Amino acid sequence: MMKGALFLVTVALLALASSLASASDPSPLQDFCVTINNSNSAVFVNGKFCKDPTFVTANDFFFSGLNIPANTENKVGFNVTLVNVDKIPGLNTLGISLARLDFAPYGLDPPHTHPRANEILVVVEGTLYVGFVTSNPNKLFTKVLNKGDVFVFPVGLIHFQFNIGQTNAVAFAGLSSQNPGVITIANAVFGSNPPINPDVLVKAFQLDKNVVDYLQKQF
Ligand SMILES: *[C@@H]1O[C@H](CO)[C@@H](O)[C@H](O)[C@H]1NC(C)=O
Ligand SMILES: *[C@@H]1O[C@H](CO)[C@@H](O)[C@H](O)[C@H]1NC(C)=O
Repeated sequence: MMKGALFLVTVALLALASSLASASDPSPLQDFCVTINNSNSAVFVNGKFCKDPTFVTANDFFFSGLNIPANTENKVGFNVTLVNVDKIPGLNTLGISLARLDFAPYGLDPPHTHPRANEILVVVEGTLYVGFVTSNPNKLFTKVLNKGDVFVFPVGLIHFQFNIGQTNAVAFAGLSSQNPGVITIANAVFGSNPPINPDVLVKAFQLDKNVVDYLQKQF
């Protein structure tokens, strides 16, 4: 009797845990839910205000400018133009977004993760050395990609793209969230605000205190 009840409670808890650990954006409950900032002429779905469909126009699903290269004159020689729900209100609840990645020669999209999205990337110009690392134990998967090549980066895993060519490189990426989020490892660890206590970083990275001070000044 006790054993049966315990089993039922365990099953109920597991079911609850798996429903909470949803692996992607919630699926839409209607054709679309164009996000708006206020509740005037709005309906309320999935925790967000949606624009009254009567007032929705084609422009709610439109963005222009991904033909334009972003400025890569920065420390890493890389820039990203992200088209997420902030750029296209009609993406709300749809679980996707799009990015253009521009690389100067030897430019790097530094190791980072997207906490909420898988990524599928296609190279349209240049040559990229790309890779991701699995959760522990940390196995590295890498590939050199040329024009037309496609690579997938699973959700949450640390990944990078490095332009190993002497020319600019351009890639486009689809992401499985309306708001993928990004955590750039070096910036998050050495450039957080307020800073992480250097003693933590000295021990975690097995570095000299001076090196930690130096790194914290870079980000
Ligand atoms: C919401 O308001 C912000 C700030 O006023 C504005 O930048 C943004 O474009 C607005 N978004 C929509 C979907 O109206
Ligand atoms: C990325 O490109 C945009 C548009 O060219 C520019 O405004 C922005 O400053 C660039 N960001 C970095 C980090 O270089």
